[in-house]
Amino acid sequence: MKLLEEKILAEGKAVNENILKVDSFINHQIDPAFMSELGRELASHFADQGITKVITIESSGIAPALMTACILNVPVVILKKEPSKALNQNLYQTVVTSYTKGSSYELTMSKEHISENDHVLIVDDFLANGETATGAVRLLRKAHATIAGLGVLIEKSFQPGREKLKEQGISVYALARISKLAENQVEFIPEENEI
Ligand code: G4P
Repeated sequence: MKLLEEKILAEGKAVNENILKVDSFINHQIDPAFMSELGRELASHFADQGITKVITIESSGIAPALMTACILNVPVVILKKEPSKALNQNLYQTVVTSYTKGSSYELTMSKEHISENDHVLIVDDFLANGETATGAVRLLRKAHATIAGLGVLIEKSFQPGREKLKEQGISVYALARISKLAENQVEFIPEENEI
């Protein structure tokens, strides 16, 4: 999606060959009108698939998920990284390890909000190693929900996330696919090569 690629080039900061900072429009400050356009694009890609819920993982996935769900006119369910005391029963849980952050957490979803009748779209900001998304897939499968796919804003295509999702039978749609990062340098997979 040209709009997102141009924003990344204008405001993103490639810190090194692994990390792209997008604090000014995704991770720290959010431009609502811009985020709404990204949500519209994700929603239009997955339209007509009978999606009943959008799920995301706190915290940076919430904005794109909400914008997508708003267009699809379905609820958003937010998976938690730390089970709150108020959520202590009826939970599905799975351990997720973040390679980028070097830590693990228990991804948690309430049994109340997702059932076998749901056809779910997963939305997140980044697809990197795919550990977060495959954790979400495990929880949805525990709930016997079906999965329409994963929609992400930014895929780091040089990391194994897409392959891991494919192995799980999950289709991925990414608005911007980064083939290479280096200090102050970002390269994209051209849109015509997108699969
Ligand atoms: P995965 O999400 O694909 O499993 O990969 P990984 O475990 O490596 O990434 C974990 C966290 O790091 C995620 O945030 C992800 O969004 C973030 N991340 C990965 N690569 C980048 C990057 O290049 N730039 C930025 N800004 N973030 C990156 P999280 O733990 O879910 O945190 P939150 O921001 O959603 O709270």
